[in-house]
Amino acid sequence: MSLPKAELHLHIEGTLEPELAFALAARNGVSLPYADTDELRKAYLFSDLQSFLNLYYELMAVLRTEDDFADLADAYLARAAAQGVRHAEIFFDPQAHIARGVGIGTVVEGLGRALDRSEAVHGVSTQLIMCFLRDESAESAMETLEAAKPYLGRIVGVGLDSAEVGHPPVKFREVYEAAAALGLRRVAHAGEEGPPAYIVEALDVLGAERIDHGLRCMEDSELVARLVRDRVPLTVCPMSNVRLRAVDILEEHPLPAMLDAGLLCTVNSDDPAYFGGYVGDNFHAVREALGLSQERLRELARNSFVASFLDHDEERRARYLAEVEAYEFS
Ligand code: ADE
Ligand code: ZN
Repeated sequence: MSLPKAELHLHIEGTLEPELAFALAARNGVSLPYADTDELRKAYLFSDLQSFLNLYYELMAVLRTEDDFADLADAYLARAAAQGVRHAEIFFDPQAHIARGVGIGTVVEGLGRALDRSEAVHGVSTQLIMCFLRDESAESAMETLEAAKPYLGRIVGVGLDSAEVGHPPVKFREVYEAAAALGLRRVAHAGEEGPPAYIVEALDVLGAERIDHGLRCMEDSELVARLVRDRVPLTVCPMSNVRLRAVDILEEHPLPAMLDAGLLCTVNSDDPAYFGGYVGDNFHAVREALGLSQERLRELARNSFVASFLDHDEERRARYLAEVEAYEFS
């Protein structure tokens, strides 16, 4: 049995494994510019966030129908469950699909089909977070929020992702205000490649309740003190940070320093099909590379449920937290 945990930073499109990409391409008559899965895997050598995003958006071409999105989410949930995930808050990128002529209804209904049966089939509770692409316009984000209105019953919150540098959070002030007015929770990627000031802006201007990545907060001691004081969760993705060259090697990842500073960190997989591992693999990798103690690993698992948007179901959160405390490391 694996350590029970919640996954809070997971892009569903980033769970598209090469085998499924080719299967969906065949099903939909889409041709991919790679001969086979081996050749595709050879393209998974990234120099930075943008070099990954180029491939990530390119492969989305195979996702066309509700069935495709349901199959994608089912495959993720099966893998996540096998690695101890009990609760998953799943990002999706509607603008990347709308731009290809795939409506938000197709995406949400397809994902929703898999999510509806997830507890019964995989033992994983789920929520959906809709992300805005920060390298698209603020108007496009607002149109996307408008298009999502019929589906808000299925969406717990909004996030902000894609190319960070040059696209500060302030650009999305109005759409985050509108999302808050609709009762949506707010998170934002910040401090992955962008400066600590973007984290401050995500908190002050967007009202972000969690910061996705947040790695670069460590360059600003005042900001660290604030994040500690206000118990702002950071959804850290160690294997992603290495693959996208935010840190050189896992042994130099700042996660231990972040925990020592008192930050409420969680460990997540981000885009596991592209970065070499799911969330359990990330736990294993930091345990090996950073020598984290069993109590540190338990703290990370506890933090994941504390930071989750389970506020409507505190009984469930308490149940998951009890599972973490009862877990015996082998
Ligand atoms: N979209 C998918 N993965 C992402 C990441 N790590 N950062 C920003 N946008 C993303
Ligand atoms: Zn991410």
